[in-house]
Amino acid sequence: MRVRSVCVIGGAGFLGSHVVQQLAARGIRVRVPTRRRERAKALIVLPTVDVVNADVHDPLALERVVAGTDAVISLAGILHENRAGDFARVHTELPRKIVDACRERGVRRLLHVSALKAAHDAPSEYLRSKADGEQQVRVAQASGIRTTIFRLSVIFGREDRFLNLFARMAHALPVIALASPKARFQPVYVEDVARAMVESLEMSHTYDQNLDLCGPTIYTLQELVEYVCGLLRMERPILPLNDDMSHLLAWMMEWLPVKVMSRDNYNSMKVDSVCDCAFPEMFGFRPSPLEAIVPLYLLDNTPRARYRWFRFRARH
Ligand SMILES: NC(=O)c1ccc[n+]([C@@H]2O[C@H](COP(=O)([O-])OP(=O)(O)OC[C@H]3O[C@@H](n4cnc5c(N)ncnc54)[C@H](OP(=O)(O)O)[C@@H]3O)[C@@H](O)[C@H]2O)c1
Repeated sequence: MRVRSVCVIGGAGFLGSHVVQQLAARGIRVRVPTRRRERAKALIVLPTVDVVNADVHDPLALERVVAGTDAVISLAGILHENRAGDFARVHTELPRKIVDACRERGVRRLLHVSALKAAHDAPSEYLRSKADGEQQVRVAQASGIRTTIFRLSVIFGREDRFLNLFARMAHALPVIALASPKARFQPVYVEDVARAMVESLEMSHTYDQNLDLCGPTIYTLQELVEYVCGLLRMERPILPLNDDMSHLLAWMMEWLPVKVMSRDNYNSMKVDSVCDCAFPEMFGFRPSPLEAIVPLYLLDNTPRARYRWFRFRARH
């Protein structure tokens, strides 16, 4: 299946922007619906990219944005609910609407982004709603839509909200009280995820597959925080919290004006976000080690460094 135009739902976010930039670099026409076009400045300037304001929950608006494209990439997602039911709306109902829109408009290729260890019996609403979303996408296979579901561990990259958060904590706090210190992750580089997704668009052996994507190394949360503090040369005592204290801290953080953690996140971390198998060989590259990338953005955040970073990325 030849793919010349793609609609990326969630394309203005962290992962989405990298996917869109890689699509544009291959000359593919890209349409990106978003709620706030003015925030997608880096995408608006790309020659083959059309960023449009749209409410993707409205079935007619959704049909309009997918119409005439060869493939849809579905990667809208949230980590916290602002209102009860948000997980269901974004992770389950939206994928169902996307499948309907693809069916109505004859789009035959659909990539969908889920989370590693999404399951109906998972301990968090985030993971359960992601599993429901996967189920909605699998239904599309019966109508001849070729789907690929990507299930990701935590993603790192210059704009991530994971290692950058630890860096901010190291700068702001004399002691770091850490919830779920033994939770395990296998962080994967955002450019590697984007590359695998873009490559898969035309790879027939990814049709109707679920692909788990992880980086090369497993770390506990505490090891990751220690790594960031070490990298920044900021010696910060880390206070690992037990389960009860982790739950209490997560509950207290729900009251902050900007949510960085919730009890649902705490519940998500009860299952290890690690892969059962290696990064899929079919993509022909190995995932980047965190240690090779993170110093490039955590240690130096000046405009000149960002310019060097863009040049470095352009060569890959
Ligand atoms: N980041 C990670 O470590 C990680 C790990 C595992 C899985 N994932 C999954 O990967 C996907 C992308 O994650 P990300 O880190 O790139 O997230 P992100 O930066 O927060 O971007 C999320 C995108 O989802 C859209 N979105 C959020 N809430 C929405 C709503 N209520 N209605 C419609 N659209 C909404 C946003 O659209 P607007 O442009 O309109 O704001 C945004 O473009 C998500 O599905 C996430 O669950 C991420």
